Formats: sequence, structure tokens, C-alpha cells
Amino acid sequence: MSAPPDLPEIVRRAFDVSRRAGYVSFCRNETGRLLAMLAATRDGTMAEFGTGTGVGTAWLRSGVRGEKARIVTAELDPRLAGAAAEIFTDDPQVEVLAADWSTLLDRGPYSLLFLDSGEPTEVGVDAVANLVEDGGIVVLDDFTPCEMWPPIAYGRVDTLREQWLTDERFTTVEVMVASDASTLIATKR
Ligand SMILES: C[S@@+](CC[C@H](N)C(=O)[O-])C[C@H]1O[C@@H](n2cnc3c(N)ncnc32)[C@H](O)[C@@H]1O
Repeated sequence: MSAPPDLPEIVRRAFDVSRRAGYVSFCRNETGRLLAMLAATRDGTMAEFGTGTGVGTAWLRSGVRGEKARIVTAELDPRLAGAAAEIFTDDPQVEVLAADWSTLLDRGPYSLLFLDSGEPTEVGVDAVANLVEDGGIVVLDDFTPCEMWPPIAYGRVDTLREQWLTDERFTTVEVMVASDASTLIATKR
């Protein structure tokens, strides 16, 4: 197998910023490449809940086509938000907010929503369905692949995953991005 392609320059910059901030809770590269691919299919405004130091945002940005699409991302921790904002200082297409993600509730609807604030109970379908435009995409990551139904995680039914995979407002698929990691991708009907 040939080597995977180099990281996009903007993602490299995000890793430098993360390293300097001592932050490691960023999305893995497999998920990042998926985000970039999905962003390449989008116009309009994309949103991310939970910026960290901007690695996921940078992956999204690397996929954006043209000058019309926008990315807005919210991070509760002002120190992390400040670090992420550094990456996009000269980029009018990306806005980093030092704020709770609820700040983004009245700025939708979004063409893509990356739910990555690490608080699964807050990102059920009901909480975000109206934030996504028809045909818009929601991405949730950090699941452990599971072949059973209903899905089990840590010995219990994973009700968040079950809800996303069965809600009639979305067509949802669980995709393994690595042997030990899966992601939910949902399209608003
Ligand atoms: C898994 S990390 C985000 C990683 C980032 N999306 C990436 O891919 O590199 C989760 C982040 O969400 C932030 N967070 C937690 N609760 C939040 C909230 N209510 N609003 C905004 N950010 C929040 C945390 O401070 C943390 O930095």
C-alpha cells in the first residue's frame, strides 16, 4: 500500500497550535478526511460544536470549495478558542467563537453540522434537527463499532446512536473510519 497523502497545510498548522496549547483531544485523521470530503459537497454555512484547538475545523476548511461557504465553530474554553482563532486569523470564511454552542442555535440552518462538544446527551436528534437545512448533513464521531442491534456501548444500549439511526427526519449511516472507531453521518430528509 502506498503512503497516505500528506496532511493539508491548514491541518498541519492546526496541529502546531494544538501542540503549543498542550491539547490532544482532536479528531483523528480518518475522521478529518471524512469531514473534508463532506465539506467539499457543501455550500452555505457549516457549524462545529466544540472547536478544541481547531483541528476538526481545519479539516473542514481544507475541503471547502470556492469562496461562498462559511464555517462557524464554538468553543466553551476561551483559551482553546483563542488558540484555534490563531489558525484562521486571515481567513474570512472561518469564524471561531469563544462561546457555548447554544450561541449557534439562532444562526442556522446549517448545511453541515459537526457535533463534537463531547456531551452526547445534549446532541440528540430533537435538539438539532431544526438547525439543519433539508439535505444538510450531521456528523457525530467517537463511537466504538458495534455489530449488534440495538447498539451496545460500555455494557448498555447506546441510546444516542440508536436514536440517530432510527429517526425518520434523517437518513443515517454508521461508518467505520478505522477498525476501532466509527462515525454517524446523517442527512436531513
Ligand atoms: C472532542 S473536543 C473537540 C475537538 C475538535 N472538534 C476537533 O475535531 O479537533 C470537545 C471540545 O468541546 C468543548 N465543549 C464542551 N462543551 C461545550 C459547549 N457546551 N459549547 C462549546 N464547546 C464545548 C470542550 O471544551 C472541548 O474542547
